Amino acid sequence: MNILLLGGGGREHALAWKLAQSPLCGKLWATPGNPGIAQEATCIDLDAMDHAAVVEFCRANAIGLVVIGPEAPLVDGLADSLRDAGVPAFGPSRAAAQLEGSKGFTKDLCERANIPTARFYRTTSLEEAWGKLKRFDPPFVLKADGLAAGKGVIIAETREEAQHALHDLFEGKFGSAGSEVVIEQFLTGEEASFFALTDGETIVPLGTAQDHKRVGEGDTGPNTGGMGAYSPAPVLTEELQSQVMREIVEPTVRTMREEGMPYVGVLYAGLMLTKDDPQLIEYNARFGDPECQVLMMRLESDLVELMLACAQGRLGEVKAPELSDDFALTVVMAAEGYPGTPKKGGTISLGKAEADGAKIFHAGTQLDGETLTANGGRVLNVTARGPTATEAQKAAYAAVDAIEFPDGFCRRDIGQREVRRERHG
Ligand code: AMP
Ligand code: GLY
Repeated sequence: MNILLLGGGGREHALAWKLAQSPLCGKLWATPGNPGIAQEATCIDLDAMDHAAVVEFCRANAIGLVVIGPEAPLVDGLADSLRDAGVPAFGPSRAAAQLEGSKGFTKDLCERANIPTARFYRTTSLEEAWGKLKRFDPPFVLKADGLAAGKGVIIAETREEAQHALHDLFEGKFGSAGSEVVIEQFLTGEEASFFALTDGETIVPLGTAQDHKRVGEGDTGPNTGGMGAYSPAPVLTEELQSQVMREIVEPTVRTMREEGMPYVGVLYAGLMLTKDDPQLIEYNARFGDPECQVLMMRLESDLVELMLACAQGRLGEVKAPELSDDFALTVVMAAEGYPGTPKKGGTISLGKAEADGAKIFHAGTQLDGETLTANGGRVLNVTARGPTATEAQKAAYAAVDAIEFPDGFCRRDIGQREVRRERHG
């Protein structure tokens, strides 16, 4: 079966790598792809926002499955256009992608379905928002309602800071994403991510992960898209995972179906493990980046079979996903300047980095003739496996050290929390 993969980052390189391993995979296309993805797929230039062009490509090339990597085309309704044209798509409809596209939508759903989440208030008015701050204690959590490329959350320590931030949000600092704002109660605990696949009815867990959002070691400095990740996240014990399925994921999928917005694809739940219970911080309607890279590194099942079963409403008929007991850990190598303005064009030599079983996923690279160069903030995802977090970390950094990328940097403490736990029990 021919497959079209949308996207061009490290997440999509990991998906392409796994899709291509399936005996069900015929010709694999990717758009726009990147030099790493090009090792697995034929890269083409299609505008994902031009739904008619994507549908036409699928018809002309007998595409049997479209895998939509990033959130923007999902929120834009590409999966609807494909399904309307009879092309199976892995990814939620426009209506179902509101779980990521509108924080207010998700909070309201949590209220209707009695899902544990921080107390909140939704508003479209600056004056009202200022007034409602009184109902919350510092630090104040303020969120732009819509997609803001991971930058729409502000944690303000004081009321004054919160007032300034609300002003910025409503003044359009995040474009139309900020025309509505959610104010939330601040939650404390450890954060972890839980992934599930669903065809709208059947739900199967797909593992856990933790990422490192801050740019600097020891979780300091500005937020990024993620500087590294590891899987599993043992802090999400079997028992907690069952609780997350029962109290958060299942009621979400059921309510979406009952309300005529069946959710198809991967549901990524960002959780806060508070001292009382796991609470939902946010949903994403796609795989995390770089969490996907570590999940794919552990996935032993046929990804094409699973994704197609989701797209065709047959998830109950296929074997549930199996993940290796190994840890997988990925270190993001970023270009100097990230998350501000990353330096473009830095040369990269991968050398023998993959010699000992590590896998280098390309996130932001391009080929200048024969030379691999940086073309983005997050450039490479250096990923390795091991029986413990300690060994996976060691293998990943050994691969990092084999790479020459003078204009790049990485955090040296990815997975450190888990390594410390392993050391001290
Ligand atoms: P989000 O984009 O919703 O994942 O938020 C980004 C980050 O902000 C999360 O990963 C948390 O670290 C933090 N955050 C979001 N909501 C809350 C909350 N209610 N309490 C504490 N931290 C939060
Ligand atoms: N790594 C966080 C995300 O993909 O949203």
